[in-house]
Amino acid sequence: MPDIAYLNGKWMPISKAKVSIEDRGFQFADGVYELIRVYAGRPFHLREHLTRLLASAEQIAISPTLSILQLERIVHAGCQKCGYASAKIYIQFTRGAAPRLHHFPERIRPTWVMTFRKLAPLEEAIRRRGVSAITLSDVRWGRCNIKSLNLLPNVMAREQAVRAGHFEALFIRNGLVTEGAGSNVFAVIGNRIITPKEGPAVLSGITRELILALGKKDGLLMVEETLSLTQLRAADEIFLSGTTIELLPVVRLDGKKIGTGRPGPVSQTLYSAFSAYLQIAR
Ligand code: PDD
Repeated sequence: MPDIAYLNGKWMPISKAKVSIEDRGFQFADGVYELIRVYAGRPFHLREHLTRLLASAEQIAISPTLSILQLERIVHAGCQKCGYASAKIYIQFTRGAAPRLHHFPERIRPTWVMTFRKLAPLEEAIRRRGVSAITLSDVRWGRCNIKSLNLLPNVMAREQAVRAGHFEALFIRNGLVTEGAGSNVFAVIGNRIITPKEGPAVLSGITRELILALGKKDGLLMVEETLSLTQLRAADEIFLSGTTIELLPVVRLDGKKIGTGRPGPVSQTLYSAFSAYLQIAR
């Protein structure tokens, strides 16, 4: 079967999946989402992603009509139907369709969408070389821990980065690093590996959490605290974390070399730990 979609209980090719123009996801970006990676045919850290999805929905007062167990069943069914070893699953879940009014309509039912697409993993040559990033002012709203469909600032920032030949844009708020347009950020400074604390300006990344745990297990000094732009610029190493990129070293920031300008030993050690974990988790 080709790339497939699940829409409110029905399976179909992605090209056949259509939602109403009155859907509040389309009208207001009134919804939440998750991206889950499939390795060796199995969804990775599915429970963690679904828990975050339902937590995001709760924070914008959308009542899910599906439980975690039902969602797990649908995701597993989708993985079987598409049969891909490496895939990405987007789950999008909106407040539903109704004539346009800002306040929540009564008796509205959520719209559930999932897509299952083949995923070509990031080229290893890119990870080996590392990528470049720019910093931009974080103009997002104050509730970035909700994985909402409102991604306009992220889209604009990523576009600006890619147009100028960079991989990612890193957001800066009041002189402090928050996160990337689609990733969390870590900086290696001496023997400390710092990532900004979770909170209203930082999504609780599933990959971030795993890297923190793997690093601690290896005896590394993993620290969750504020990270200033000044510290970031002077860091020995920087790396990004995210579901599709896993762990990706940043070797140039705003046109200047980070460390030696090549991926550093801590990034490499942590990526090896991540890869080893993937082998076991499969
Ligand atoms: N986004 N921060 C932001 C703003 C993100 O969009 C993402 C991931 C992350 C990393 O979270 P995780 O490790 O759980 O993937 C952090 C995905 C890749 C996306 O929107 O497609």
